[in-house]
Amino acid sequence: MSHFLALCRDVARIGGRQLIDHQAHFRTHEKGANDFVTDADLASQRAIHDALQQHFPDHGFLGEEKLDLPMTGNRQSEYCWIVDPLDGTLNYVHGLQSFSVSVALRRGARIIAATVYDPWLDELYSACEDSPATLNDQPIRPSPCQALGEALVVVSLPARVSSESPELADFLKLLYGARSIRRLGSAALNLCYVAAGRLDAYWATTVNLWDIAAGCLIVQQAGAGITDVSGQRLDLDQPRFIAAATPELGREMVAALQRSS
Ligand code: IPD
Ligand code: CA
Ligand code: CA
Repeated sequence: MSHFLALCRDVARIGGRQLIDHQAHFRTHEKGANDFVTDADLASQRAIHDALQQHFPDHGFLGEEKLDLPMTGNRQSEYCWIVDPLDGTLNYVHGLQSFSVSVALRRGARIIAATVYDPWLDELYSACEDSPATLNDQPIRPSPCQALGEALVVVSLPARVSSESPELADFLKLLYGARSIRRLGSAALNLCYVAAGRLDAYWATTVNLWDIAAGCLIVQQAGAGITDVSGQRLDLDQPRFIAAATPELGREMVAALQRSS
């Protein structure tokens, strides 16, 4: 295992420990409309950042949360650690499972090591660019699903949705076409579930780089596919995408989204 991947896994577990330790008592702050951050988010990010800095003080660091103390990190480095310290904060706030720690290492434009850790289920998904994706060290594969009408599809919608939200029209196109739809609340785990064959496809147009940087590599190394919403190569910095178990299902998802409402 690459030393980068080993560190990725270790620090994801360090963050996961913080999430479990804070579950009994944490403060919550609404940083935007229906968008929350808790003491657990901050403690997880601080612990991950400090562990990474011990090993690679000259690497860059991009964490979702803005902490009181500066998050050091060399913006000039070709290496950058991309961290969502708690993906699924709303689930966590409500005491619902389906939350995770997402840690990815980017070298230039490529994600080269990735871990998504679910501390509730103690499930650690990981991959690096030259090794297959695993769940708790066992190889994972996507489902064989090729038809949208047979697919269980997961979606992400904005934190606040109104009747005017543009995402709603696209959501309805998938709702009408798929076997069924889920909105589970952790973008990182959604990608891992497509990689592991628990879900057949995932559509999102309102998530951030830190939500999906790790999950994208895990999807690719499991043998599933991820494209932008028109079926072209995904630009990680514009994460409007479809992840699908098979190319056939991916094409059906693109076609469904391109149909007029
Ligand atoms: C959120 C989750 C959710 C997605 C939101 C994200 P957070 O991450 O991934 O599934 O729909 O767009 O912001 O805020 O819990 O880290
Ligand atoms: Ca997130
Ligand atoms: Ca988060």
